Amino acid sequence: MAKIKAIRGMNDILPEQSPVWQYLENTVKDVLSAYGYSEIRMPVVEQTNLFKRSIGEVTDIVEKEMYTFEDRNGDSLTLRPEGTASCVRAAEEHGLLFNQMQRFWYQGPMFRYERPQKGRYRQFHQIGVETFGMANSDIDAEVILLSARLWKRLGLLDSVTLQLNSLGSNEAREEYKAALVEYLLARKDQLDEDSQRRLDSNPLRILDSKDPNTQALLDSAPVLTNYLDDESRQHFTELTDMLDAAGIHYEINPRLVRGLDYYCKTVFEWVTDKLGAQGTVCAGGRYDGLVKQLGGRPTPAVGFAMGVERLILLLETLELIPEEVKQPFDLYLAAEHKGLQSKVVLFADQLRDQLSGLRVRIHCGGLKNISQKAQQSGAPIVLLLKETDNQQLCGTIWHQNEPEFDLQETQIKEKIQNIWQA
Ligand code: HAM
Repeated sequence: MAKIKAIRGMNDILPEQSPVWQYLENTVKDVLSAYGYSEIRMPVVEQTNLFKRSIGEVTDIVEKEMYTFEDRNGDSLTLRPEGTASCVRAAEEHGLLFNQMQRFWYQGPMFRYERPQKGRYRQFHQIGVETFGMANSDIDAEVILLSARLWKRLGLLDSVTLQLNSLGSNEAREEYKAALVEYLLARKDQLDEDSQRRLDSNPLRILDSKDPNTQALLDSAPVLTNYLDDESRQHFTELTDMLDAAGIHYEINPRLVRGLDYYCKTVFEWVTDKLGAQGTVCAGGRYDGLVKQLGGRPTPAVGFAMGVERLILLLETLELIPEEVKQPFDLYLAAEHKGLQSKVVLFADQLRDQLSGLRVRIHCGGLKNISQKAQQSGAPIVLLLKETDNQQLCGTIWHQNEPEFDLQETQIKEKIQNIWQA
């Protein structure tokens, strides 16, 4: 019978890879806690209407990428394609938004039926940040600074570029849309097929087109920046002033519009040229209208989400994962001869008691060539225990390939403590 395999575009994260994930997740958590953010956990399945009403009916995600199904009750449910809508739903449902200022983060799998390729999967993982109740540009600056601090911690700051734009108010964007459509309608036959279709449904997304002819047409098209309302313009200037003061480099990209409908004012993406076509590692912006659109009271909001797989690919490509991260234990402990197994188990536990955080793996099973096997474990410290004729434990420690033979039990513990604390 044919073996059952994983679903295309949905990946197992194998034990060898997990330490890298944990390294990234722990670094992100450290940075998030330095900014006082709190974790929120939402279900992976929501009512389909939540995504239709937030991401937008005529976006790629809703039109063709959602995993939507009927449950046994006949209700239409969807595997979440992103976290913002769920976060707003959860926060509103639990009364966390009205008249409050909130800073949340979440992590977990998201699902989009896209064509799988390097950096693009059908189940992928995001770590996201959502803030609520703060209308001024200082919070836009904060979330960008937070992400920049993370890149710095990971050694990525020189490999990513911040692209920045303002989409203005809804009214300003409608006015711009009309001008853009008028310009493009007069040149419709020169547009690629996708963009022709988008002229009716979602004209701003034409700005994202990769087609060279369409791109060339856009060079002379009306520019969104010129249509910004005064308030959005001021918001954007304040933001760029803060980024300048913080020494954060950015490129203003007037064609950056994002593929989800809920944004207004600030939008941004961190992009890299090291990953080919899937170069956006983190993206977000302001979405002041979304809470109201989903039935809450008007609440300003801003956030972003990073793609965990893409960040890991980038760290791997640039060889930025610290060597010790990949090693799941610090000490490998084995018996040199038979009859010592229970002493090995106890000794390992004594070491764990004595040295908090020390990761000890014991050797279980046959002892043939044990000295060689233990050294091949890759652990920075290797300990082989044996028993003297008068039943005292003693052993050999290898550290940095240097053995020290015939150490007494207390000497072993002292030595390991010294290495560990160094
Ligand atoms: P998004 O741009 O759709 O925004 O996704 C954010 C990030 O998730 C992308 O920049 C990318 O790194 C990663 N990503 C998206 N799709 C895939 C995929 N198929 N495979 C691998 N990685 C992927 C959002 O999802 C918004 N909710 C972000 C946000 C939060 N805006 C405000 N708050």
